Amino acid sequence: MSAVAEKKELNAHLWERHPEDWYVEPYWCNRRLFEEEAFEGGIWDPSCGLGRVLYSADAAGYPVTGSDIVCRSGFCDELFDFRTCKRPRARNIVSNPPFSYAELFVRHALGIADGKVAFLLPLQWLASETRARFFPSTPLRRVYILSPRPSMPPGPVIEANVKPGGGKKDFAWYVWEQGYEGTPELKFMHREG
Ligand SMILES: C[S@@+](CC[C@H](N)C(=O)[O-])C[C@H]1O[C@@H](n2cnc3c(N)ncnc32)[C@H](O)[C@@H]1O
Repeated sequence: MSAVAEKKELNAHLWERHPEDWYVEPYWCNRRLFEEEAFEGGIWDPSCGLGRVLYSADAAGYPVTGSDIVCRSGFCDELFDFRTCKRPRARNIVSNPPFSYAELFVRHALGIADGKVAFLLPLQWLASETRARFFPSTPLRRVYILSPRPSMPPGPVIEANVKPGGGKKDFAWYVWEQGYEGTPELKFMHREG
C-alpha cells in the first residue's frame, strides 16, 4: 500500500486530516516504552506536539528536549523542520512522527543520532515491500507491538477534551540502536505491563 493510501486508511474512519499530521498518542504508549527500553543519555523528540513522549521520558528520569514546526506545549524548546536539521539535540531520538514524513524521519534520525532511535509507527510497516528491503539495512533492534490498539485523535480533539474511543489500527514502537547488527527482536507491549 502506498504512503498516501495508508494515510487515507489511517484517518478515513475517524476525523478530518490535520494539516501538520498532529495526532496524539495515549500516555500509556510512552510510559510503557520507557519502562521496557533503557536509554543512555538524553531524549529528544523532534516532533513533540503536546510533549507526551517527553512527559514520560522526564518521569522516567531522562533529560529531555523538544522541537516541532509549531509550538504546541511548554516541551517545545525550538521551532524547526526536523528534515533539515543537522545537529542532534540529544543522544537519543524518540517520537511519534508526522505520518506524511514518517519514513523520511526514520532515515534522517538514523543519520544524525548517536544512541537509540525509537518511533511509534504502524505495525503494517513490517509487511510493506519497500520497508522490508529498507529494514535489513538498518540497525533495527526491537519492535514492540502495542496492545490494545492505541487511538490517536488529532490534537484539537484532545484539546476539546473529547474522550477517544478504541483504536482501529495496529501500532508498534520500532527501536533502532546504532551499531547493532543482529536480527531484530519482536516483543509485546501491553498497556498494563
Ligand atoms: C503525531 S504528532 C506528535 C504527537 C505528540 N507526541 C504529542 O504529544 O502531541 C506529529 C507532530 O509533528 C509535527 N511536525 C509535522 N511536520 C514536521 C516537521 N517537518 N518537522 C518537525 N515537526 C513536524 C506536527 O506539528 C505535530 O505536532
